[in-house]
Amino acid sequence: MTDAPIAAATTQILSAEAHPAQKPVVKTFFDEATFTASHVVHDPETKAAAVVDSVLDYDAASGRTRYGSAQKIVDYVRELGLKVEWQLETHAHADHLSAAPWLQEQIGGKLGIGADIVRVQEVFGKIFNAGTRFARDGSQFDHLFRDGDQFQIGNLKATALHVPGHTPADMAFVIGDAAFIGDTLFMPDYGTARADFPGGDARMLFRSIRRLLTLPEQTRLFLCHDYKAPGRDEFAWETTVGAERAHNVHVHDGVPEEEFVTMRTTRDATLSLPNLIMPSVQINMRGGHMPEPEENGVSYIKIPVNKL
Ligand SMILES: [Fe+2]
Repeated sequence: MTDAPIAAATTQILSAEAHPAQKPVVKTFFDEATFTASHVVHDPETKAAAVVDSVLDYDAASGRTRYGSAQKIVDYVRELGLKVEWQLETHAHADHLSAAPWLQEQIGGKLGIGADIVRVQEVFGKIFNAGTRFARDGSQFDHLFRDGDQFQIGNLKATALHVPGHTPADMAFVIGDAAFIGDTLFMPDYGTARADFPGGDARMLFRSIRRLLTLPEQTRLFLCHDYKAPGRDEFAWETTVGAERAHNVHVHDGVPEEEFVTMRTTRDATLSLPNLIMPSVQINMRGGHMPEPEENGVSYIKIPVNKL
């Protein structure tokens, strides 16, 4: 089996779809409770904007949601007078809840995610026995992105790339000289995302990452998480293709696919599940909406026993 035709095709796509001359403004909001970086990216000429991977605060002990993290995004958007066109999700997160529906009410924007979310809905719909009223067709979202889809944010040119591996539906959004790559690469000193969730695949993750690393070297990469690598005291969420290619501890240039797959699967076997996986998955597979309330008007989150 050879990867050459795939690599050639994707290199073509990426060199054609990168827009290094356009430099969007990016502001990041980091949630230390879930180690999540949410980004607001905007076009300085038109003030058109997109929010990427927002966070709804959730207290697991009490089952209460709060809007503190999301409110910071609202305040920033209003202060700068931004026109939010998109609420983008790189994937259905398993470690935090999306605030997209609440943000849509406050500041607008169409909710977009990768088209393969339907596969995630199928898998988790079964695991959580979500019933027939839970649609598994992606209809909870306003737009389902496919690989290579192009769109505009004001004058900024944007391209959606399918980068499966962490989950089957992960997308990266290349917007001007910036790429929002979700859970694929982390900072060079920390490595890569896990690939052991249902539908995850270490080999697919490797190929998605190598594809991202064919973007121009100066491309700014904005990550979804940071956990501070040993020896680093500050959280960080921005790096470049060049830095990842030279220094990423898991996938710098020259690391063979087999070596990565062995490292990733061995390491994943030692990881416990994220604290908020139960609420996160049930809510994020519904586009950030709570499960349908029961006859007493209350929404409940399920925990499948001995299943995950
Ligand atoms: Fe994730």
